[in-house]
Amino acid sequence: MNTVLNFAHRGASAYCPENTMAAFQRALELGATGIETDVQMTSDGHLVLIHDESLQRTAGSPKLVKDVTLEELKLLDAGSWFGPQFADERIPTLRELLELVKPHEGVQINIELKNGIALYPGLENAVIEEIRLQGLSERIIISSFNHYSLALCKQLAPEVRTGVLYAEGLYEPWEYAARLGASALHAYHYAVLPEWAAQAAEQGIVYHPWTVNEPAEMMRLLKAGVAGIITDYPDRLGELIKEYEA
Ligand code: G3P
Ligand code: MG
Repeated sequence: MNTVLNFAHRGASAYCPENTMAAFQRALELGATGIETDVQMTSDGHLVLIHDESLQRTAGSPKLVKDVTLEELKLLDAGSWFGPQFADERIPTLRELLELVKPHEGVQINIELKNGIALYPGLENAVIEEIRLQGLSERIIISSFNHYSLALCKQLAPEVRTGVLYAEGLYEPWEYAARLGASALHAYHYAVLPEWAAQAAEQGIVYHPWTVNEPAEMMRLLKAGVAGIITDYPDRLGELIKEYEA
């Protein structure tokens, strides 16, 4: 049995400001075996890790990510909103995360393309180029709520796994995933039932539900047979995985 993957959602975002190097570092320290992050693009084409299209909530600027250069974006404090001790945190580039994780063999990276609102033409190509440059294709899974984007990624890089992100209610989503050439269903966690996990598995499609923070729900999903879980608390999930697999 492959051990269940423990994906830290935006890094260890329960303990550190989301999508910062502090959060990614903490996730590794807490035993995460995967890191989930959100990628967008600056006005000068750099790949940066941030959840919202606007810089307001986490970096205090009213501008949009797509309208600032990397240089401008790097001046912003991306940590103080979470706690004063994080004032030096900056919005990381995808490259910074890949370089951090690279030496941690076996740790996977779930790169979520945040191109549902701002479309970022060329994002798929740029992400794939970066993954190939780092030689990390086998450890990456690209996900997105933009499924056209997932189809394009598969066309550009058949060797990189993709995961279909959705919030609820898809009928036989494993059939849909197979049509897209995807390997995984990144479902909102309530949308995972044990019989569905079994049916998906028959087609070689696995579930990686998000975002699961309550131990009872983590255990329900482990028993349902998911292949990984995305959580803000990789420490909590790590303990439960050990207990479940013992
Ligand atoms: O990839 C799982 C999860 O991150 C999707 O939602 O809004 O947290 O990016 P969100
Ligand atoms: Mg995400």
